Amino acid sequence: MIKSICCIGAGYVGGPTMAVIALKNPHIKVTVVDVNQERINAWNSENLEALPVYEPGLAEIVAQTRNVNLFFSTNVNLAIHEAEMIFISVNTPTKTYGIGKGMAADLKYIELCARQIASVATTNKIVVEKSTLPVRTASTIKSILKQSQNNVQFEILSNPEFLAEGTAIVDLLNPDRVLIGGDYHTQEGKNAIAALTDIYKNWVAADKIITTNIWSSELSKLTANAFLAQRISSINAMSAICEATEANIDEVAFAIGKDTRIGDKFLKASVGFGGSCFQKDILNLVYIAKTFGLNEVADYWEQVIVMNNYQKSRFARKIVQKMFNTVSGKKIVMLGWAFKKDTNDSRESAAIDIANYLIEEQAELHIYDPKVTQQQILTDLEKATNQTTNQLQQQIKIYNQTTNIFQQAHAVIIVTEWDEFKNLDYATIKTQMQQPAFIFDGRNILNPTEITQQGFQYFGIGK
Ligand code: UDX
Ligand code: ADP
Repeated sequence: MIKSICCIGAGYVGGPTMAVIALKNPHIKVTVVDVNQERINAWNSENLEALPVYEPGLAEIVAQTRNVNLFFSTNVNLAIHEAEMIFISVNTPTKTYGIGKGMAADLKYIELCARQIASVATTNKIVVEKSTLPVRTASTIKSILKQSQNNVQFEILSNPEFLAEGTAIVDLLNPDRVLIGGDYHTQEGKNAIAALTDIYKNWVAADKIITTNIWSSELSKLTANAFLAQRISSINAMSAICEATEANIDEVAFAIGKDTRIGDKFLKASVGFGGSCFQKDILNLVYIAKTFGLNEVADYWEQVIVMNNYQKSRFARKIVQKMFNTVSGKKIVMLGWAFKKDTNDSRESAAIDIANYLIEEQAELHIYDPKVTQQQILTDLEKATNQTTNQLQQQIKIYNQTTNIFQQAHAVIIVTEWDEFKNLDYATIKTQMQQPAFIFDGRNILNPTEITQQGFQYFGIGK
């Protein structure tokens, strides 16, 4: 039975996943390590509001397990040395250089981990891929680990994470399935699969724990994300048709969702999907397909991204067009920056592209998000616009509450579906704004009839 686990990478995946494993396996010592000292300090912070990842329910679990059987440290070597099982949970961004630039997954962090494990390990280890990886990455990891001079055996497993941000703890506590890919033809492979299965069995029903070969497991993760993203692009494509025809996308989604073959989840038309996974994983899939000469397959999946980019720019263009073809010098309030509600993560958020577009159109942006820090918003904008903070501050202002944000605004645009935006006092807001007062609801969270009755010019998605 496993008694000691190490997880390399204390990010959005590693942190919450290990917190839940520690909670459900009090007999296992779980150490989460990261090269980023600041991040580890934040995980160890007395103030639970300061954890580097915001997820509903996470702080409570960390409070219960931290320094009991859950530890956060920068001592990567010691944690590798002590562990019987090592999860690799480091980032795998899209490559920004060389072959596969803008498409392939950059595996340099994975390779560094594998090299470090090979040089430090003096006892047998089970190495678990948690990060989403291209198919056959396990063989790269294996060939690096084989170089170890310390005469130790490594078994590699793939155990992709299906949690969604904002609901990470619920997803981890009640997963639809747990997928474990491994070499089930050898006894060592079977033992490794059994060791990981035992950890999950402490809270997940046995029939939800699926075993496949390692390549199927790696590909299933990419496939799941590609299918999910495809559904959003499909409904967003229909939202454009709705706007042209007076059909209503929410009604269409409801009607088709009643077909049990289609199902009602992931049919919410929006400003476009964001997040660290969908775009990266689809680009990765496209790259893999091209590598195998499967160009039609590559083109098919690439359209999901093309449609998503179209949806973001369509929304931004509509704002300008409806506001009499100019937003120059106009005050626009942006509600939301995170890529979805209940997270402080803004990676690939539609908000970034929309803000960039409006800044180019010389709008004055007043931005508020309940969880994303001012610093993060500035960093995102510096990268997107190629402007310095000083330059940006001529055109943007970031708030940590909504008091006073609406004074003299020409328009409000809702980019993230935070619950608090549903319950704002829009009647009062209207009186504070310039007239006509516009609302562009990029998440369809407001009631168009009520908002219009209050005197707003209301524009949702697909209506
Ligand atoms: C996704 C997968 O859901 C998860 O299984 C995987 O492990 C990681 O990638 P995540 O990116 O955290 O999770 O969030 P998700 O809920 O999938 O949302 C992604 C984006 O799609 C968000 O910007 C969200 O607002 C958008 N979305 C989602 C829609 O626009 N409409 C929908 O109906 C659903
Ligand atoms: P994810 O959303 O996949 O969890 P994050 O970027 O939030 O991605 O987290 C990945 C973490 O992995 C980062 O905190 C990064 O510092 C860490 N990391 C990357 N490479 C290494 C490494 N070789 N050793 C330890 N930590 C690493």
